Amino acid sequence: MSTPAISTDRLLLRRWRVEDVAPFAAICGDPEVMRYIGAGATRTAEQAAASIRGFEHAWEEKGYGPFALERRDSGEMIGFTGLSEPAFLPEIMPAVELGWRLARRSWGNGYATEAARAVLDFARLELGLSEIVSVFQTGNAASARIVRKLGMRFERETRDPTCGRLVHVYRTPSGD
Ligand SMILES: CC(C)(COP(=O)(O)OP(=O)(O)OC[C@H]1O[C@@H](n2cnc3c(N)ncnc32)[C@H](O)[C@@H]1OP(=O)(O)O)[C@@H](O)C(=O)NCCC(=O)NCCS
Repeated sequence: MSTPAISTDRLLLRRWRVEDVAPFAAICGDPEVMRYIGAGATRTAEQAAASIRGFEHAWEEKGYGPFALERRDSGEMIGFTGLSEPAFLPEIMPAVELGWRLARRSWGNGYATEAARAVLDFARLELGLSEIVSVFQTGNAASARIVRKLGMRFERETRDPTCGRLVHVYRTPSGD
């Protein structure tokens, strides 16, 4: 299934390319980026490449997945924002999760929020999904701020069974 790219003021949200492997591997090799993801381990270049294959597989199978984020001014690939199934947390399944991971040098510019708003519109208008969840570890203040900016509501605190860490689950208001 081919998915049109989405343009926002400053970003292009698009499907993944072979050239994305190196910059995505650098992002996933940064311990600060990975701090609140699973047990906080960095990924090898091969694991990052496998993740991109998984993202593209999700797009083909489900019609959604994480979008690669490209800065429109420079063409730089700065990470992802998009949708996935939070299978790691069976207690909230079935669900579709909105998530984000950006290169550290691009943090603090509102990029994740800008992309997330576009993904929520895509989910509602193109996929007909009225409810989206977001799950993040309790220390992840930037993610906590983003879900509030998006108008998502706190649903529960629980533990990620894959790593034992506490997570917060937020959800778009129903009917949104
Ligand atoms: C989370 C992440 C995607 C945010 O990207 P970003 O483009 O910097 O996000 P935005 O600028 O759109 O919004 C971040 C908000 O959090 C705030 N914030 C950032 N760090 C913060 C902190 N330590 N404490 C409180 N607020 C913080 C920012 O000020 C901003 O809020 P504001 O617009 O009110 O000023 C980025 O930090 C990242 O990639 N982190 C590592 C990966 C990760 O943890 N992903 C989520 C896993 S669930």
